Amino acid sequence: MIAREPTQQDADWIVKLLVERWGGTAVVAHGEVFDLLKLPALVADSDQGLATYRVWGDDAELMSLDAVCPGQGVGTLLVEALADKLRGQGISSLWVMTTNDNLTALRFYQRRGFELRRLRPGAVDEARLLKPTIPAIGDDGIPIRDEIDLCRRLL
Ligand SMILES: CC(C)(COP(=O)(O)OP(=O)(O)OC[C@H]1O[C@@H](n2cnc3c(N)ncnc32)[C@H](O)[C@@H]1OP(=O)(O)O)[C@@H](O)C(=O)NCCC(=O)NCCS
Repeated sequence: MIAREPTQQDADWIVKLLVERWGGTAVVAHGEVFDLLKLPALVADSDQGLATYRVWGDDAELMSLDAVCPGQGVGTLLVEALADKLRGQGISSLWVMTTNDNLTALRFYQRRGFELRRLRPGAVDEARLLKPTIPAIGDDGIPIRDEIDLCRRLL
């Protein structure tokens, strides 16, 4: 499996994946709405996963990461390919936000060099005002309330 930049041929499955996983192509993070389709991305060939991200100054933020079939190395492939790419562009830090219920993501990111940096209690309750389809209950029956930022040093 390889990670590569998406082409026009990827558009359909990317939209389908985002609608399935995120309830649409827009996400809310730290009070801002992002249209994932407008962001740079990497895909795991073929149609196995998607990472979207944004870059500002010396920092980047992973805005979504999805493996079609979890537990087969897709997430790791995309994170490592993105880290290599950003390092090559001189980006020093890769951030990611996840929510308090997502214990899988908290485990996944910490095992891949990300460290907990910030907690925004109640931030998801505010995000719901911008995106009402964000569910009230998340993984393992945990209420989705808080945003947690993690960061991995790249340089
Ligand atoms: C979080 C997420 C992206 C992780 O992606 P993933 O493809 O499952 O991640 P990986 O397969 O690379 O790693 C997960 C585990 O599977 C293991 N694994 C990797 N390749 C494997 C293989 N071929 N066979 C068996 N296990 C494997 C890894 O070792 C890893 O375990 P570890 O952390 O103990 O090392 C995925 O669970 C997902 O899509 N979640 C839903 C969306 C989400 O929550 N995204 C994060 C918020 S932005």
